[in-house]
Amino acid sequence: MFEWDESYSVKVHLLDSQHKRLFAVLQELQDAMIAGHGKQAAGRLLERLIDYTVNHFATEKALLEKCKFPGLAAQRSQHHDLTQPVLALKKEFDTGVGNVTPQLMSFLQDWLKNHIKKMDQGYSDFLNAHGVR
Ligand SMILES: [Fe+2]
Ligand SMILES: [Fe+2]
Repeated sequence: MFEWDESYSVKVHLLDSQHKRLFAVLQELQDAMIAGHGKQAAGRLLERLIDYTVNHFATEKALLEKCKFPGLAAQRSQHHDLTQPVLALKKEFDTGVGNVTPQLMSFLQDWLKNHIKKMDQGYSDFLNAHGVR
């Protein structure tokens, strides 16, 4: 199971709820892969993943910019590192050659877990101190 729990909290309500949606869509993608639900389901979930991800990164960036968080550049570069392979994968799906593999799932899940714990949690106190909760 791939589930959000309190240990992933970044102490900002909106960002936590966006992270929860990312966990949920990755879990759905994994379930679809295991159940062999094929490319159509995976393609739709991938679209949702991109949608949620783009949305979340934009929200995070706007908040960090507004509060002048010093680690913004590092955040943006890690976000870019995830966005690129996911968009490339979507392109593969659109041309019919893409596939959701266990390797891909562990890449996405590891990325999300590590990014939240090593990067996102680094802005919690800073944002809270600027009145963002
Ligand atoms: Fe982030
Ligand atoms: Fe995040």
